[in-house]
Amino acid sequence: MADRGEFSSRFGFLMAAAGSAIGLGNIWGFPTNAASNGGAAFLLVYLVLVFGLAWPALMAELIIGRHAQANAVRALQGLARGPFTRRLGTFVGFAGILTVSLILSFYAIIGGWMLAWAVEAPARLLGLDAVSSWLRTDAVPRNALFDALFMGLTILIIMAGVRNGIEKWGTRLMPSLILILLCLIAYVLTLEGAMDGLAAYLIPDFSEALDPQLIINALGQAFFSLSLGVGTMLIYGSYISQRESLSTVGWMVAALDTSFAFLAGLLILPAMYVALASGVEIFDADGALVAGPGLIVVVLPALFDTMGGAGGFISFAFFILMSIAALTSSISMLEVPVAYVVETRGISRHRATLGIGMLITVISLTIVANFGVLFDSVVTLTTEYSQPLLGLFFAVFVGWIWHRKGVLEELQKGHAGVEHTLFWKWWPFYIRYICPLAILAVYVQLLRG
Ligand code: PFF
Repeated sequence: MADRGEFSSRFGFLMAAAGSAIGLGNIWGFPTNAASNGGAAFLLVYLVLVFGLAWPALMAELIIGRHAQANAVRALQGLARGPFTRRLGTFVGFAGILTVSLILSFYAIIGGWMLAWAVEAPARLLGLDAVSSWLRTDAVPRNALFDALFMGLTILIIMAGVRNGIEKWGTRLMPSLILILLCLIAYVLTLEGAMDGLAAYLIPDFSEALDPQLIINALGQAFFSLSLGVGTMLIYGSYISQRESLSTVGWMVAALDTSFAFLAGLLILPAMYVALASGVEIFDADGALVAGPGLIVVVLPALFDTMGGAGGFISFAFFILMSIAALTSSISMLEVPVAYVVETRGISRHRATLGIGMLITVISLTIVANFGVLFDSVVTLTTEYSQPLLGLFFAVFVGWIWHRKGVLEELQKGHAGVEHTLFWKWWPFYIRYICPLAILAVYVQLLRG
């Protein structure tokens, strides 16, 4: 088997896994979903689902990953008890590889927007007005160029391997992103209209919280945000040292990720209402978002424009950081198909990365060229249909197929006495019954439309 590498420290792993989890999902996906699903009601349901379903599912993936020390297909096959569960493992592993490749193909488009906006501010500061206005205009050539650029960067980083690639990027970024978010929140809250946004974000209308569509969106968003169901966290789990407590690191990743999403909401929803107060159209007559997936690249530039001279610098810093946050997530996606091909087909890492990366780039460019028709469908298919369902199967593998003793032994590594903790008292039951049933319930709703 290829040398899998191991994170040198808890901090290294935490930063890398958090790097995978924290990305466009938090700062683009979560606020956009919240804005189109009644704000605070969405936040409430999201929090319940992240801690009630997504975090327990994250634990399942990390535990399988560290135990199996292999890609998702092999890992699940290894837990199987007979030919049927082995075939199921193969199927779930492959479905994950396919799903994550499709996620990357839409993710790279939004990542490309971040890059384009990062370049826009310097262009404007240098007086290149034509370039700046080209970069500001949402059009296929711009989107295609930056989409390909984003994919190119992802491919280059993955070629460098685990330590050099993932760890280095993960550890440097997060504090600056938190800082800039906090400053922007403080700023936006001083502007006219912001308090309406804050109210929309924080005061729930409980009747909306039971809307099936809202629950489906929130579950998809929770699984997307924690990078679940597709084997990403499983691979990261396989890189965690045996001396670490899995339940502690899993908890920290979920908490960090959710904090970022919450902060992003504190910025974007008020910023929307500020834009609204200054005449930008945000909602159409039916209350749907005018900008759709482009919401944040409408309201944030509008916000930066209110800042005078400083706006250009802040816009640059923000979009650069967002681009890096997106890259630490996209590399964790590309790692999934690459690790599989390298470990099972004996193809070199270099070639595998280039081949798979190019294929995904082609799919992504196809979506760019047919954005209106394809984008939303690919997002819905992968994050709402596929990720939670695959998460359900991971839960079934840990709860029903793997022996309880094996699960406990894995958890005991790096955490002596874990069998006496609260975590071990509730989690096995939870992952066996509650997670599968709850995901199934949401899924049935989804299929009934
Ligand atoms: N969790 C990432 C985000 O919130 O931006 C997206 C993601 C990464 C999804 C890795 C799936 C994945 F495998």
